[in-house]
Amino acid sequence: MTERKLMTLPRLAQMHAGGEKIAMLTCYDAAFASLLDEAGVDMLLVGDSLANVLQGRGSTAPVSLDDMLYHTTCVRRGVKYAFVVADLPFDSYHVSKEEAWKSAAALVKAGAHMVKLEGGGWTAETVRFLSERGIPVCVHLGFTPQTVTSLGGFKVQGRDEVSAARIRRESQQAIEAGAAMLLYEMVPAALAADITATSPVPVIGIGAGVGCSGQVLVLHDMLNITPGRKPRFVKDFMAGKDSVLAGVKGYVDAVRAGSFPVDAVHGF
Ligand code: KIV
Repeated sequence: MTERKLMTLPRLAQMHAGGEKIAMLTCYDAAFASLLDEAGVDMLLVGDSLANVLQGRGSTAPVSLDDMLYHTTCVRRGVKYAFVVADLPFDSYHVSKEEAWKSAAALVKAGAHMVKLEGGGWTAETVRFLSERGIPVCVHLGFTPQTVTSLGGFKVQGRDEVSAARIRRESQQAIEAGAAMLLYEMVPAALAADITATSPVPVIGIGAGVGCSGQVLVLHDMLNITPGRKPRFVKDFMAGKDSVLAGVKGYVDAVRAGSFPVDAVHGF
């Protein structure tokens, strides 16, 4: 058995280039960080979805930078191998690139290897500013939960020609600005697969089809402990499993094998 090494950006890029699928899950505390690490998850996302799953809120907008710093610190303490990405919360990077730097640097000091921000076009200047100064950035495109109101609700993005062209354009702008990773949420599988095939950086999908370089799900969704109706792209990985570790290992195996997601079932 090959010795497991710390996950790095070059290794993630290598996985993308070689068609080796990347398994990512959200994580908010040290105990789960350690379990997900043991299960072989490549990347942990300290997502601002903690608003929904931990704080019981209806949107991610109220999450503060202090909330994100606290949970990033906790997660990093539990990790030995996985690559840790932390969300820049709403209202922490919107006004200026200097404001974005302060927020992103604080997340890096708390233990993040990379930060994620939402939106294309207007964020390119910020992506360039952070990347040039040594903070790797993941750009979240497609459905962007922080701006759910202006998107008119939880809607698939990129279905028509204009909106698909926008996702293509924004992806290109993000890559040219230095983004080290893209994340697509609720994007048609064919569009995501087409962009991923020629992308120089890994593309992680959530509700974006099996053709992405890797997958992410909200931990509580795949463990089936989120109350209420789950989005179409979620699968219950605890079904038939007798431990959380087994459920998470099942997710990692399914992502690696390309058997999750099934586009006809979980895709758009
Ligand atoms: O905050 C989060 O959990 C996310 C995922 C939906 C990708 O951004």
